[in-house]
Amino acid sequence: MRKFDVLQVRKDFPILSITTNGKPLIYLDSAATSQKPSSVINAISDFYKNYNANIHRGIYDISVKATEAYINSKETVSKFINASSYREIVYCKNTTDAINTVALSWGESNISEGDTILLTETEHHSNIVPWQLLAKRKKAKIEYVMMAGDFTLDMEDYKRKLENGPKLVSFAHVSNVLGTVNDAELITRMAHDNGAVVLLDAAQSLPHFAVDAKKIDCDFMAFSGHKMLGPAGIGVLYAKDSILEEMPPVIGGGDMIRSVTFEESSWNELPWKFEAGTPNTEGAIGLKAGIDYLNSHGMENIARHEELLTKYALESLEEAGASIYGIGSGAFNGKNRSGVISFKLKGAHPHDISTILSSEGIAIRAGHHCAMPLINKVLSEPALARISFYLYNTTEEIDAAVSSLGTVRKILGLKK
Ligand code: ALA
Repeated sequence: MRKFDVLQVRKDFPILSITTNGKPLIYLDSAATSQKPSSVINAISDFYKNYNANIHRGIYDISVKATEAYINSKETVSKFINASSYREIVYCKNTTDAINTVALSWGESNISEGDTILLTETEHHSNIVPWQLLAKRKKAKIEYVMMAGDFTLDMEDYKRKLENGPKLVSFAHVSNVLGTVNDAELITRMAHDNGAVVLLDAAQSLPHFAVDAKKIDCDFMAFSGHKMLGPAGIGVLYAKDSILEEMPPVIGGGDMIRSVTFEESSWNELPWKFEAGTPNTEGAIGLKAGIDYLNSHGMENIARHEELLTKYALESLEEAGASIYGIGSGAFNGKNRSGVISFKLKGAHPHDISTILSSEGIAIRAGHHCAMPLINKVLSEPALARISFYLYNTTEEIDAAVSSLGTVRKILGLKK
């Protein structure tokens, strides 16, 4: 195994040297968005400085170079997730956009009145709202697999709900609130055995450990560039070639057509059929640079580093008297949860925790984490505080955050 040196890694991320509120930045919100290494920043800047041009539209040198870079980016993504080819890689804005594309294209053609779409209680809004919109248009039903008491999915409930014959099962690989890692391969196999098509929301998994689309065998997969060291505004919809071939385009315009007459149009080959208009070339170039950076360290090393941070943080938070909403240190086996840790400190509103930590230079998320049904209804909380890690975080940063919880208690006059 290659050696992983977090202090070396940190040097590659310029923002990790800034101060905020007069304190060194401690960034513990990578589940919201990741920081960017210099290689990503430089790749985008290099594009603008040296070969900025529209792709697929020019036969002059820099346009050809930009087109090659765009396709190269797709090839890198395809290899990273073990897709069959870059024909299966559709660029979108982000995970939300990718899921909406499936709902608007596959959903419009395949979901009919009375059909069921099966989600889980632990989904982000981006994997609920597009289906609610579709279900309303089509008079279809949505069901939710329940969360079990140990913060995993209730697999008995899943089995029961599969028996109702859902057309689609769509679920998060890793919950952005609980950090639970779902067994994507098993859930997909069970769905396929019952005739359902599967969408995997990999926004919180793919940046942190190796995800193999072929092995999981999901039909669709959605993820965001900005959570995996790339820029915002570029996300990926992966879908099996045969499924994409059958799907109609959602947005019409330039580049997605083979030919256009005043009466009608025919569609370009995959994946261009789904990418109307000038694409986010700089985003694609930045995403490739982000994946190259991840590959240079090895996903197995990154996963191992985050596993150690997670164990350390769970133990430290528990020791500090925080209540963890997710698998705790006792049940953590290194693989069943990720480094997304939602917690509560008795008597302290999560917004107060986040504000006080911010005054110490520490960035954490507080609120409903775009998962109101899970936090408000299933967990019966108005809001939670959340810390989340990436390859550049250290145990010292966790110590600083946990010790700041003492400051929170002091300021708010709370006892441990
Ligand atoms: N989905 C992102 C989060 O959980 C924004 O913070």
